[in-house]
Amino acid sequence: MLILGIESSCDETAASVARNHTEILSNVIASQVEEHKQYGGVVPEIASRRHCENILWVVQKALKDADVTLEQLDGIAVTAYPGLIGALLVGVNFAKGLALAAGKPLVPVHHLAGHIASNYIAHPELKPPYLCLVVSGGHSHLVEVLSYTSFRILGRTRDDAAGECFDKCARAMGYPYPGGIHLDKASQTGDPSAYPLPKPKVTGNDLDFSFSGLKTAVINLLHHAEQKHVEIHRMNLAASIQSTIAEILTAHTINAAKKYGYSDIAVAGGVSANSGVRKALQEACEKNGFTLYVPPLSFCGDNGAMIACAGSYAFEAGIRADASLNASAAMELTHWGEMGEYVGKCL
Ligand code: KG4
Ligand code: ZN
Repeated sequence: MLILGIESSCDETAASVARNHTEILSNVIASQVEEHKQYGGVVPEIASRRHCENILWVVQKALKDADVTLEQLDGIAVTAYPGLIGALLVGVNFAKGLALAAGKPLVPVHHLAGHIASNYIAHPELKPPYLCLVVSGGHSHLVEVLSYTSFRILGRTRDDAAGECFDKCARAMGYPYPGGIHLDKASQTGDPSAYPLPKPKVTGNDLDFSFSGLKTAVINLLHHAEQKHVEIHRMNLAASIQSTIAEILTAHTINAAKKYGYSDIAVAGGVSANSGVRKALQEACEKNGFTLYVPPLSFCGDNGAMIACAGSYAFEAGIRADASLNASAAMELTHWGEMGEYVGKCL
């Protein structure tokens, strides 16, 4: 089975061809990060324009690198939700046109199902059901992966996502966008106990996350230091932020695994590249006798391979859209797997 995957939900235009779900024949990514950097974050209209310019050559290169023709494809998978609406629409409309012209089935993919699938590429032995911590710039979810296309959300952030918290703290410290990786690098030589930071207390579902209090505490700490002309030790602050986020994510993940009886745990999304998060999860899993699956660094951020892989499973499960497929900025992961064959109306 050969599936082309197309991704354009944020600031990466990406495409990939997957054979038999997990064998990645090509993986092309055109990143816009350098351009958005000067504005301190993604500018949605610029993102849409760059996707328009890049999508044709990115898809052509993905097919060429894979040595696969349009005719040989079994289906065309595309990220249809969630994300920046103008950015999603570029990929969705391109995929619709291509599917129509080539007479191939169109498979709408949920971006988070893509992140979850990134682990299957490196670890084909990982099979549902298992628990997955999905942590990206826009989401922090604890997900019960019931099958390749059905999910239950056990916990989610009430406010900022983990990646958003990394980026906003990094920005307050003067690091360029996206700041997560800069905080990661800076924390390598820092003391994580130097700046005690608050951990959230969430009432109701104790598997839910909250990161806005931590972000506010870091911003206040920086303001007070500036007003009092006190020097901040940047490496120590970076290490303190990183270890606090890693501790929160790890504690919730282990609690969820115990509560729901999972011993296979995966982590996915941009923040799964964070060295502190990977280490804390690994240590906690070893301590509890759980097995941890982490994606290779090259598949943590947005890419087409994860969409081709998730799209392959969705294709097999009968998830299809017709030419009326619309993008949605905020579709729930749980709705996606339940769609089956549908006509593409925006939910
Ligand atoms: O999954 P992703 O590429 O895009 C979304 O779907 O949002 O995630 C991007 C997020 C950004 O917030 C970025 O700063 C964060 O992942 N990130 C990291 C690291 N690498 C990427 N955060 C912390 N440490 C890293 N090494
Ligand atoms: Zn993503």
